[in-house]
Amino acid sequence: MASRANQINIILNDHQMKPVEVVEEQDPFESVHHALKHFIGMDIIRDKMIEIYALIEMNKRREDVGLKTDPQSFHMLFKGNPGTGKTTVARALAKWFAQLGILTHQHVIEADRADLVGEYIGQTAHKTRALIKRAQGGILFIDEAYALARGGDKDFGREAIDMLVTHMENHRQTFILILAGYPEQMNDFLQTNPGLRSRFPFIIDFPDYQPAQLLEIAKKMVKNRDYHLTKQAENKLYQLLIKERQGKERSQFSNARYVRNIIEKSIRNQSIRLVKQKIYDTKAYILLTADDIPNDNE
Ligand SMILES: Nc1ncnc2c1ncn2[C@@H]1O[C@H](COP(=O)(O)OP(=O)(O)OP(=O)(O)O)[C@@H](O)[C@H]1O
Ligand SMILES: [Mg+2]
Repeated sequence: MASRANQINIILNDHQMKPVEVVEEQDPFESVHHALKHFIGMDIIRDKMIEIYALIEMNKRREDVGLKTDPQSFHMLFKGNPGTGKTTVARALAKWFAQLGILTHQHVIEADRADLVGEYIGQTAHKTRALIKRAQGGILFIDEAYALARGGDKDFGREAIDMLVTHMENHRQTFILILAGYPEQMNDFLQTNPGLRSRFPFIIDFPDYQPAQLLEIAKKMVKNRDYHLTKQAENKLYQLLIKERQGKERSQFSNARYVRNIIEKSIRNQSIRLVKQKIYDTKAYILLTADDIPNDNE
């Protein structure tokens, strides 16, 4: 028994001598969590970023030991209803890709049909080329991308799509193209342009938020602005979110943007209340009460 106990002791001592690196080691995907730390939800994009990070990391390691790697492209399609975070995520991605050394800049050039498509011959090529040039090193984010295919084959939008496709292949290492839009229209767009899907390795859905997530987003927005919702305000807001989300067509409800508008309206209501009642007290400045939350018909 005694020798057995000693043996265990030795093993433990041995173990204690080892540096505790393994326990303290950073999460390898820390940069992903950091990039998304201000967002609620976003599980789908988080999983995609983990995939991308792992791929980049492994490619680097393979290169280091002289193994082959495929040149990678990170062009993406974002499908999501209004206010689901598409534009905001594109900006966060630009920063993240720049940190990882995939992009040289962290700018996002936001564009829509009017920025690409001209009215007379030659203008579209000129506009599209200029935009791609500006986007070099960063992200070119085209909102409501399906509008490019709006006018059919004879429309100049077609020319813009063809140019984008050529450039995204030829300059895959120097900029990232993100085409964004509402889900149904984007699906139609992909169907009418079958060659496109295969050129975008990352097709990402931005789902509508659940009422509980919308409330979390509201709390985050309020906290960022140095306010706090009372319990009653929180309940009233939650009921409002459930009602609005259910009452509207999916494509009509503006998700997190709706929340932002409600919060901004609540802050204005609070200001009126405090000024009217001449309440000048720090605690009161912070609290948003149920009275400040707008009623649904406002
Ligand atoms: N998951 C989230 N957590 C916190 N805030 C969010 C989240 N998603 C969106 N927001 C906020 O909601 C607002 C709207 O988001 P954004 O503009 O990115 O949506 P969008 O999908 O681009 O909408 P649209 O299709 O109408 O352009 C922004 O203020 C953004 O910061
Ligand atoms: Mg947007």
